Amino acid sequence: MSGLPSSATVPDGGGGAPLPRHVAIIMDGNGRWAKQRHLPRIAGHRAGVDAVRRTIRAAAEIGIEALTLYAFSSENWRRPEEEVADLMGLLRYYIKREIAELDRNGVRLQLIGDWRRFAPDIVADLEEACARTAGNRRLDVAVALNYGAQDELVRAVRAIATEAQAGLLDPAAIDRTTIEERLDTRALPPLDLLIRTSGEERLSNFLLWQAAYAELMFVDTLWPDFDRAALERAVAEFARRERRYGGR
Ligand code: IPE
Ligand code: IPE
Ligand code: MG
Repeated sequence: MSGLPSSATVPDGGGGAPLPRHVAIIMDGNGRWAKQRHLPRIAGHRAGVDAVRRTIRAAAEIGIEALTLYAFSSENWRRPEEEVADLMGLLRYYIKREIAELDRNGVRLQLIGDWRRFAPDIVADLEEACARTAGNRRLDVAVALNYGAQDELVRAVRAIATEAQAGLLDPAAIDRTTIEERLDTRALPPLDLLIRTSGEERLSNFLLWQAAYAELMFVDTLWPDFDRAALERAVAEFARRERRYGGR
């Protein structure tokens, strides 16, 4: 995750508008989408899965390298037990039903977060899905599961302290790269664009380190309504932004 600047200039028929290499999305608003329709929240989450499918397809077609999706936060365990169970059910369904298509479309599945704390059957299915798609190169899709940026940093610090205590790492040599290499996102390109749907304007513990110089976009669209056109609008807006990294 190191190295600046981070967006590739991709030929787009001559214009050379910078395309974000790595886009992350806080997929918010499923509950409000359902409420507007007098449906149970799970209906909103199901519609959210359709939006995930559309968005992955669009990201691959646009030529984005990596797409990180915030699906379940380390704080989402605070939701009523029934909603957590519904979300786990949906995750089981998603892994079983969607991986074949992801694989066909050249998607390499990655995971960030403390997902190994999920139920053993889910962990096994996730491991299998990652292994099955490991050779794909068209688009990296990183799903954030039981992810919290503060928890990610705690785990990284713990790993660094353990290595230092074992004499494998000199504390004086710890730098930004030492930390980035121990974050869950270590295999992903630097974050260029972070989008949150549903009109909320906060990060909710998502990619705090990685967002240091990412462009932030808050859109009113509720996640189940997100589609290719919405992603294209965000990518076009990204191309108009001027990134300075503290310079002038
Ligand atoms: C996002 O939608 C999905 C998850 C957090 C799993 P919400 O369920 O947060 O929807 P709202 O914010 O209540 O509308
Ligand atoms: C953030 O949304 C987490 C995901 C989208 C998975 P939340 O709906 O949980 O965030 P808050 O509670 O509004 O901050
Ligand atoms: Mg929400």
